[in-house]
Amino acid sequence: MKESRQTFLNLFFILWLLLLLKTASSSPLPHGKDPRAPSLPFGLYKGHTCVGCVLVVSVIEQLAQWHNSTVKAAVERLCDYIPEKLQGFCYVLAELYGPHIAELIDREMNADVVCHSLRLCKQDPGQPLCHLYSPPKVGLSVAIRKAKRIMKTSKDLKSFMGFSSVCTFPLLANLCEKIKYVLRNKVPFEDFDGDKFSTFPTLRGYHWRGRDCNDKNTTVYPGRRPDNWDAKGDSNCNGIWGVDPKDGIPYEEKFCKGADSRGVVLLGDSAGAHFHIPPEWMTVTQMSAKSFSNLPMAFSDEFDWPQFSEITGFLNSTIGGWTDSLYLRLRKRNRCNHRDLQNISQNGGSSGNLLSLIKSLARNQLLDNPAIVIYATIGNDVCNGERDTLAHMTTPKEMLSNVVQALQYLDSRLPNGSHVILTGLVDGRFLWDNLHDRYHPLGQLNKDVTYSQLYSFLDCLQVSPCSGWLTPNETLRNLTSERALQLSNVLKEIARSEKFANFDIFYMDFPLRQTAEEWRKMGGESWQLIEPVDGFHPSQIAAALGTGITWQKALHEWPQVLGKENPFNDQIEAIFKDQGGH
Ligand SMILES: *[C@@H]1O[C@H](CO)[C@@H](O)[C@H](O)[C@H]1NC(C)=O
Ligand SMILES: *[C@@H]1O[C@H](CO)[C@@H](O)[C@H](O)[C@H]1NC(C)=O
Ligand SMILES: *[C@@H]1O[C@H](CO)[C@@H](O)[C@H](O)[C@H]1NC(C)=O
Ligand SMILES: *[C@@H]1O[C@H](CO)[C@@H](O)[C@H](O)[C@H]1NC(C)=O
Ligand SMILES: *[C@@H]1O[C@H](CO)[C@@H](O)[C@H](O)[C@H]1NC(C)=O
Ligand SMILES: *[C@@H]1O[C@H](CO)[C@@H](O)[C@H](O)[C@H]1NC(C)=O
Ligand SMILES: *[C@@H]1O[C@H](CO)[C@@H](O)[C@H](O)[C@H]1NC(C)=O
Repeated sequence: MKESRQTFLNLFFILWLLLLLKTASSSPLPHGKDPRAPSLPFGLYKGHTCVGCVLVVSVIEQLAQWHNSTVKAAVERLCDYIPEKLQGFCYVLAELYGPHIAELIDREMNADVVCHSLRLCKQDPGQPLCHLYSPPKVGLSVAIRKAKRIMKTSKDLKSFMGFSSVCTFPLLANLCEKIKYVLRNKVPFEDFDGDKFSTFPTLRGYHWRGRDCNDKNTTVYPGRRPDNWDAKGDSNCNGIWGVDPKDGIPYEEKFCKGADSRGVVLLGDSAGAHFHIPPEWMTVTQMSAKSFSNLPMAFSDEFDWPQFSEITGFLNSTIGGWTDSLYLRLRKRNRCNHRDLQNISQNGGSSGNLLSLIKSLARNQLLDNPAIVIYATIGNDVCNGERDTLAHMTTPKEMLSNVVQALQYLDSRLPNGSHVILTGLVDGRFLWDNLHDRYHPLGQLNKDVTYSQLYSFLDCLQVSPCSGWLTPNETLRNLTSERALQLSNVLKEIARSEKFANFDIFYMDFPLRQTAEEWRKMGGESWQLIEPVDGFHPSQIAAALGTGITWQKALHEWPQVLGKENPFNDQIEAIFKDQGGH
């Protein structure tokens, strides 16, 4: 019985833990200096467990406060909001552990104290006690000791076990399989699907690449040049096939021959994959069942929302802002490009670990159309959660070597006539400057958690997505930006001097300044360009605005990258409608 209790506890926390794991994993272990396959940062679970616990307890506390209810009722309310599949264990948990947590909260212990007394937050020897909230008047350690005395009955709450016991749970089973596979074979997360294109949306299915239109036939996939002008079937999944009965000419030949068709591929990081945690999950004043309806999907997409992203987005955003993407614009310019997209980005992607991720690129040099590859690792080469963060940043020399290797690999895979655009690193001082004294979603009800507090909490636990920028130390922020600028200059120099057989190559700065200017002109404020929950990633609005800026630059300076406008677009639309959708 004890064992199953433990399992339920784990399940509960693993939900939040995975969530937080992702918050921070834009940079943890897999960073610039490590050229091996990125693996999940298991060693960091301790810190993430603490963050997850503080988050859950805070939400419960605030729900009780907002609805003027008991803590027990608040836990039940939270369980009620969570999707049905997950509710069972939530109720069991509430039954088993609700009273313990409730007792502590009723005695005005804050979430930090509760989580330390549950031992889900731990103090490392010689390190400070990490906390999100201002310490209670009696002091944090005194409060924790007091709470532990109250909690003495709860031995079984003590430890946090490994993954295996939770993998029997249906929703998590897939994810567990995937994680085990990745760990066993040391491959990038991306390689999980044997056939790289898929008809399944999440778990790196078609939210991440153009949807396959025939999963059974491996010679059918988006981006290939059509087989026999697709007279009999849609071999490239662009929705254009068959023969015009009026003249016997295949439609694909009529509309797409010489149309300069091309796909778009993103090689990037969590910003590229569009990392997002919905603020509704922790804003109690607006919380309802609707707030959590996207929870299962978010889990299986690793908290990325590539389907709305800047480069490869194709669905209307359901997470605020709007969708605009290089892919959508290329498709509008030439409808033969329908579905030809690949998002090879992952949380934590940097110039180093991209070298293994890049192997999941699906492009056949002989059979496929050329591609536009956007190389955008905008921060992880300088972002890590280490205490001596500067020492762990990628050096210009390493950057040069990593990027040239990646480009050589691309040269061996991309069809002739492709294009590569290198995007510079962002200047992350924008984050601190615009957020540090604002309230985090978790701190809005009681005006008690600012981003500055959140950053310090994550930094203390060594799970900060970027110790160099998310810090009150201005000297350190400046040094981090200095390194980022040096690395951008390496990219610029590569674009200027290196030549490749199968693609030409360009450089552009990350368009943060123009994005902010444009948004201000539209009446917006700078802080809205940053993800509210993690205080680190670009928001949906920033992504959509960035697309327009990149597009305009390409159109004016490198029009050959975008190809011609297809004069048959209207006819294609008239005959093939939405071309099979996405
Ligand atoms: C909260 O609920 C209690 C008991 O139902 C009631 O006595 C109290 O007045 C309520 N407080 C507020 C602020 O509504
Ligand atoms: C697979 O697709 C190719 C190209 O459209 C076609 O020539 C071939 O006959 C298909 N194979 C099967 C088994 O359907
Ligand atoms: C791809 O990268 C873009 C980069 O902006 C990102 O927004 C998007 O979410 C990523 N994933 C997919 C599948 O498009
Ligand atoms: C997105 O929204 C626009 C109008 O708001 C609509 O015309 C379009 O069909 C929508 N696209 C998708 C994929 O739902
Ligand atoms: C690639 O195409 C260009 C013309 O577009 C041609 O000059 C060049 O020789 C080709 N390169 C290779 C490796 O075939
Ligand atoms: C950081 O850089 C800014 C802008 O370059 C400069 O104004 C400021 O004085 C620098 N601060 C420190 C502490 O180096
Ligand atoms: C700020 O960061 C710099 C560079 O890491 C360090 O030398 C300095 O001691 C830090 N200042 C404070 C007040 O921590």
